[in-house]
Amino acid sequence: MAGSEQVTSAGGDGRTRPRRAVRRERTRVGIVGAGPAGLALARMLALGGVDTVVIEIRERGVIEATQRAGVLEQHSVRLLEELGLAADVARDGRRHGGFGIRTGGATHRIDLEGLVGASVWLYPQNLVVAALAEVHSGSGGDVRWAVSDVEVDVKAPSVSFTEPDGTRVELSCDLLVGADGSQSLVRHSLPRGVGEGFFIEYPFAWFALLVMTPPSAPEILYTQSARGFTLLSQRDATLQRSYFQCDPAEDPRDWSDDRIWAEMQARAAGPDGFTVKEGPIVEKSVLPFRSYVHQPLRHGSVVLAGDAGHTVPPTGAKGLNLAFADVALLGPAILDWASGDTRGLDAYSDTALDHVWQVQSFSYRMTTLLHTRADATPFEVRRNAAELRGMLASRAGRQYLAEGFAGVASADRAERL
Ligand code: DHB
Repeated sequence: MAGSEQVTSAGGDGRTRPRRAVRRERTRVGIVGAGPAGLALARMLALGGVDTVVIEIRERGVIEATQRAGVLEQHSVRLLEELGLAADVARDGRRHGGFGIRTGGATHRIDLEGLVGASVWLYPQNLVVAALAEVHSGSGGDVRWAVSDVEVDVKAPSVSFTEPDGTRVELSCDLLVGADGSQSLVRHSLPRGVGEGFFIEYPFAWFALLVMTPPSAPEILYTQSARGFTLLSQRDATLQRSYFQCDPAEDPRDWSDDRIWAEMQARAAGPDGFTVKEGPIVEKSVLPFRSYVHQPLRHGSVVLAGDAGHTVPPTGAKGLNLAFADVALLGPAILDWASGDTRGLDAYSDTALDHVWQVQSFSYRMTTLLHTRADATPFEVRRNAAELRGMLASRAGRQYLAEGFAGVASADRAERL
C-alpha cells in the first residue's frame, strides 16, 4: 500500500489560491490510466509483489460500458490467463478459428487454424477491463477512479490529482507509467524535444454501430467494395457490432437507420445473395483513424505503454493486443528492475517498438487493402480489388493475412523471451 502524510500547501503556479490540504503518498510504480494496459500491468506487478497506484480520470462504470474492439490474439488470452482470468475468458470469450473477407460479392474464409494453427477470441474490451478491474481491486490493488486535475512531473517523478471527495493527492513514485491512451497526458508532459512522434492520418473514419440482431455471418466478416469498407463483427447471439467506412467529418445524427441499412446492404451485397441482418440500432458513433508511434517509449523514470505510446487504426483490432504485448514485456522488466536488474527495462523501448512497427505495418496494409478512398480513381478501385483478390487466391497471401490477424509473430516472440 502507498504510504501517506498530510501537509498543506499553496498552488504551485505562484498564483494566490486558498491553501488546500495535500496528501502526500508514495508508491513504487505510479500508473496513469486504468485501461487494459494500466490494469494488466498493475495486476502483473501485484502478483510479483511490487506496489502500484493506478489513477484514472473516468469512472469505472463508464469504462466498463464503453464499446471498444473485441478481438484477442492467443498471446493476449495467455496473458489474461496468467493474470488469473482463465475463468473469465472461458465464460465471456468465444474462440474463432477463422474470419471472412468479402470482395466482388463473394466471401473468402481465412482459415486461421489451418494456415497458422491459431485462433482468436472475440472478447469485448470493456468486459476485459471489467474483469481486470475486478481481480485487481478484489485482491487489494489500489485504483483511484474518477480523479481530476491530473498534473504530471516527469522529473520527480510524481503525479498530482484530486480525488472525487476533493482531496488533493501528490503521489511520488520510483517509476511512472503512462498507460493513459492516445491523448496521453504523460506523453505530453515529457520535455520538448524528448523523443519523436511519427504519424499518418487517413482520409476516412469508421461509423460504429451496436445492433440488436443475430449475427449475419458465422465469423467476423470484413468487406471491401467500391462504395467503401464494412465490417460485421459480433458480441453475442442477440447483439452485434458493425462498422462502415465514412468521412471523418460525418455526424451520426445525419444517418437514419434506413440510410445506414441501405448503405450496409449495398456494400455487402453480391451475387451469392448475402444480406446483412438488420435490427434496432442502439448505438452510433464515429471513430477516429490514425497511426501513431512515439519513440522511444521510455525517458528516464517515465515509461509509455499501450495507446499512450502508439495508436493503430482499428482494422484488424490490434490496439488491445499491442497494449498487452507491451505489458508482457514491461511487467517482467519492472519486476526485474525492482530487484536490481535493469536490463529488461533498458531494452523495453527497442524491443517493444520493433513489434509495434510490425503491427503498424499490418494494420496499415489491412486498412489500405480493404478501404476505398473517396478520391480513388476507377483505376485505383480496380487495382486495389485485384490486389485483394490476388492475395485471397494465393496461399502465401492468405498466410500473410492469417499470421497478422492471429498475431502469431507476437506469440512466437513471447515464446522466445
Ligand atoms: C472488432 C473491431 C475491429 O476493429 C476489428 O477489426 C474486428 C472486430 C470488434 O469490435 O468486434
